[in-house]
Amino acid sequence: MPPNLDVKLYPYESSQRRSSERETPSTKQSRQSNIRKPLAGHHENDRRYVNGEYWAPNDERQNNQLDIAHHLYRLTLNGRLYIAPIRESPRMVLDIGTGTGIWAMDFADQHPSAQVIGFDLSPVFQERVVPNVRFEVKDACDPDWGYEKNSFDFIHARGMYGCGADWLAFYQRVLTYLAPGGWYQQIEMSVTPTSDDRSVTAGSIFDQWGKNFLEAGDRCGKDFRIHKQVKGYLEGAGFEDVVELIYKWPIGTWSEYPRIKEIGRWNLVQWQEGIEGWSLALLTRALNWSYPDVQAYLEKMRGGLKDPTIHAYHIINVVYGRKSTVRDKGLQG
Ligand SMILES: C[S@@+](CC[C@H](N)C(=O)[O-])C[C@H]1O[C@@H](n2cnc3c(N)ncnc32)[C@H](O)[C@@H]1O
Repeated sequence: MPPNLDVKLYPYESSQRRSSERETPSTKQSRQSNIRKPLAGHHENDRRYVNGEYWAPNDERQNNQLDIAHHLYRLTLNGRLYIAPIRESPRMVLDIGTGTGIWAMDFADQHPSAQVIGFDLSPVFQERVVPNVRFEVKDACDPDWGYEKNSFDFIHARGMYGCGADWLAFYQRVLTYLAPGGWYQQIEMSVTPTSDDRSVTAGSIFDQWGKNFLEAGDRCGKDFRIHKQVKGYLEGAGFEDVVELIYKWPIGTWSEYPRIKEIGRWNLVQWQEGIEGWSLALLTRALNWSYPDVQAYLEKMRGGLKDPTIHAYHIINVVYGRKSTVRDKGLQG
């Protein structure tokens, strides 16, 4: 599919920023009181994974990358945690594949009346004193998530690329657990860097990166193209009022626009922190590369990341949609 031409160079500007979405002192305070627990998993090439199910490590280094990405998402959404027009005081909120739980915790801080549940394959989330957030270990591919049907006012997912094989079943499950009229929002990123000025050339290290990522994902049944398929899936599954916003995340500080430059600066840090974890298992397990080959490749990638003549970016898709309020559509599960 060709890139969508309706790409925003600037992060989405909201004219109405909800006061409840601003950072509060309690956000900081409660984050400071987090304790990360030692985690189970297996070690491979000096990184820790959750039983081979998930393609990226779940260790401290990758969790740092996830927290940097959280900052990037917020910069992109003008400080907001979501842009779906959810009700003022949501009661039940679910965060699928919650990772470190940073989104769920921030959301719970901002919405004290909400009961927020975050679940993930592995317990990388943090222990926390905030009473209205709860974390669970659960597999999103499991057909039964064990919650009351029609119960969530808002379901959120972010960075689920490469996580599922049967997306249609996944979205139908989301509909089952959403309350009638409830909103779903998902943010995904492309793994294929590109450029508008042809500084990412065919065969260059960035070009190879995207191709290798997609091929490795395909070989192990993990599709990394979900970012451009979410909207179609939601519409096909029966969501209403589906909206998609598309952003460019520069890799590096090459943009002349200060806000985009800021995103590029953070994104560069994210890539520097993330590339080993993103590629190691995929390249060694799916493409049979040796560990030294991956490290040599990563060195070239690090060179590319530092090259100011390359004006690379990748695409971020923010999609949201609503479950019908009409009960006889058979969407309620
Ligand atoms: C890229 S991380 C994103 C984490 C978090 N949503 C965020 O944006 O900070 C993807 C997360 O999805 C989790 N995950 C992958 N497959 C999953 C599954 N089948 N069920 C539940 N969680 C899953 C991984 O363990 C990982 O923590």
